[in-house]
Amino acid sequence: MASARGEFSSRFGFVMAAAGSAVGLGNIWGFPTQAASNGGAAFLLVYLVVAFTLAYPALMAELIIGRHAHANAVTALRQISNTGAQRLIGGSAGIIGFIVASLILSFYAIVAGWMMAFCLSSLLTLFGGESAAAWLTSFGFTRNVLGMLLFMGLTVAIIARGVRDGIERWSERLMPVLLVTLVVLVIYVMTLEGAMEGLKVYLLPDFKRALAPDLILNALGSAFFSLSLGVGTMLIYGSYLDDRQNLPLVGGMVTAVDIGIAVLAGFLVLPAMYVALHNGVEIFTPDGKLISEDTLIFTVLPELFNSMGLAGILVSVFFFFLMSIAALTSSISMLEVPVAYVVETRGVARRKTAYLIGGCIALVSTAILLNFDSLFGLVITITTRYSQPLIGFLFCIYVGWVWHRDQLLQELRKGNPDIEQGLFWKIWPWWVRLVCPTIILAIFLQSLLG
Ligand code: PHE
Repeated sequence: MASARGEFSSRFGFVMAAAGSAVGLGNIWGFPTQAASNGGAAFLLVYLVVAFTLAYPALMAELIIGRHAHANAVTALRQISNTGAQRLIGGSAGIIGFIVASLILSFYAIVAGWMMAFCLSSLLTLFGGESAAAWLTSFGFTRNVLGMLLFMGLTVAIIARGVRDGIERWSERLMPVLLVTLVVLVIYVMTLEGAMEGLKVYLLPDFKRALAPDLILNALGSAFFSLSLGVGTMLIYGSYLDDRQNLPLVGGMVTAVDIGIAVLAGFLVLPAMYVALHNGVEIFTPDGKLISEDTLIFTVLPELFNSMGLAGILVSVFFFFLMSIAALTSSISMLEVPVAYVVETRGVARRKTAYLIGGCIALVSTAILLNFDSLFGLVITITTRYSQPLIGFLFCIYVGWVWHRDQLLQELRKGNPDIEQGLFWKIWPWWVRLVCPTIILAIFLQSLLG
């Protein structure tokens, strides 16, 4: 079956696809707002340390398992197991990963649908369609379902085309567009009155706040979500890498792009918030905290854009376009997890599988929308707070304790014959065996205890 599998055609294609998966809604508004309310540059520093010392090693675990097996997570984890019990646990973890990836997509598609609705709304305003524009930005079941279906349709259409023509081609096109849009927006916002104040908040370190233990754990949680770890996404992307690639290097590139874009987004979102403040928009809650997360994107920023006249409408189109692209390159990586599993283990055609699974996930999204107040937050909590760290933990255990060390070395040698002499091989194997699982377990216990 391996010969029928897709494969990325170049290192660039892989890095764009994996970085595309990593760079998503989490980076562009999650990271900047967290940094703003948690000690500015000091949080940035903590985030950088955590991302390189914990998220990067965990990413490497997924990439290596995937590349070794050239198969989906279930098959891959079974393959490196030595006993029946290990095969059972590995296979189950793979299946849970496939369910979690689908559930993440079910809420992600709703939020991404809003992003597309806001983008379309600004476009309509530009051409005088005010009433349709207003409908698109007001919360309602029909708007929510249509936005979600549109976004899910795009995701399915790309995944139905496979690795090279779908994932790789579209990531190569969309990621540079994302970067350029982001840079243009940053430059523009910096020229506005009030921007420098936001920059100060972002760049002035407050170490007292940033070194609080709960904050370090939070930084770790968001680094895991941001690098798409703990659902098998990076494992499946790794499985499409050819054996000549130097894994520690490509993994490092993906981490660097992910962090780089999060940091760059901070230069957009923070200054934009203070420009909004300067224009009379409320950006603090009554108890003096910075407004964050969904409120920021869907209320503060649109109010800022409204206060800027025609330029504001254009910036709004660009901004929500940027968010939609970031979401799309992530959502395709989520859908690929269940699709790859079904195609490889059941032998069903890719196109059919993509439409079928995409359709089922759209049904789950609709159920969430019908019971929005009770289900939306719940699905996010179960998947990102509990499941992701737990499966990430298992991946590290499989690489660190289950898989034989000499096989691991052989796998790494394929793309880098001198790996044994380098720093990576001296540190990473025991790091992923001891440090990563211990700390991931600590985050997990902390989530459990609230
Ligand atoms: N990394 C994506 C983001 O930052 C989210 C994601 C999670 C993607 C899990 C794939 C798998 O938005």
